[in-house]
Amino acid sequence: MGVDGGRETIASLRRYLEELKESGVDELPRAAVPRGGKPGSQPEAASPAAAPAPPTPVAESQMATTSGETLDDIRRDLGDCVRCQLGNQRTNLVFGVGNPRARLVFIGEAPGREEDLKGEPFVGEAGQLLTKIIQAMGFARNDVYICNVLKCRPPGNRNPHHDEIVQCAPFMLRQVKAIGPEVVVALGTFAAQTLLATKEPISALRGRFHDYHGIPLMPTFHPAFLVRYPERKREVWEDMKQVMGLLGKGAPAIKG
Ligand code: URA
Repeated sequence: MGVDGGRETIASLRRYLEELKESGVDELPRAAVPRGGKPGSQPEAASPAAAPAPPTPVAESQMATTSGETLDDIRRDLGDCVRCQLGNQRTNLVFGVGNPRARLVFIGEAPGREEDLKGEPFVGEAGQLLTKIIQAMGFARNDVYICNVLKCRPPGNRNPHHDEIVQCAPFMLRQVKAIGPEVVVALGTFAAQTLLATKEPISALRGRFHDYHGIPLMPTFHPAFLVRYPERKREVWEDMKQVMGLLGKGAPAIKG
């Protein structure tokens, strides 16, 4: 490689690192351990700031959650859904996207305007930030699975109504069971409170694993909240480091 080529590589690496920093990532993971490698088996994982011991062994949670139905079965069952009023107001039903065998599932609240138009979750500004977080964790967006509690956009992005949750949330649970992930991340107050059936604030729920139908669930702040309050990205990254630890993605480098 010539001198110019070297300079270009360094410049693009610097741009990439700046982008990561903008997403709240100020440390990078060490090389990942292979799938099946023991989470936490590397000495770095035992740093003083390390997460409490994972609540459920990975293989067990996978066995406990595989339901026998496929995502296609569930999508077919939803059909042209009008089980609640949102069905008559949507442009597109936003089912979910990603790897049907994902080890990691992210669950948000409901589609926003851009998601409704595109039929894909988390494609707006908050979605772009989520994609950066996923990449910083060492995954591509299509390695993981992304969906929402509600499949249709509440008009004006209002909060979901109780009857809408009652109709829609069972499909999300079926998606999770069909995938059988090792970890679920609940994005924001609404998803965390709905999945964990609690009224506790997200600030109290985040930072530790909870049990969701036998699967470790990490609540964290919603990317839309991070767009408004970028200074809170550091807490999300702390949560994601715990998730990476559970997935054996290698311990994040300890800051010097
Ligand atoms: N916010 C959500 O909770 N989900 C989306 O898909 C987009 C924004």
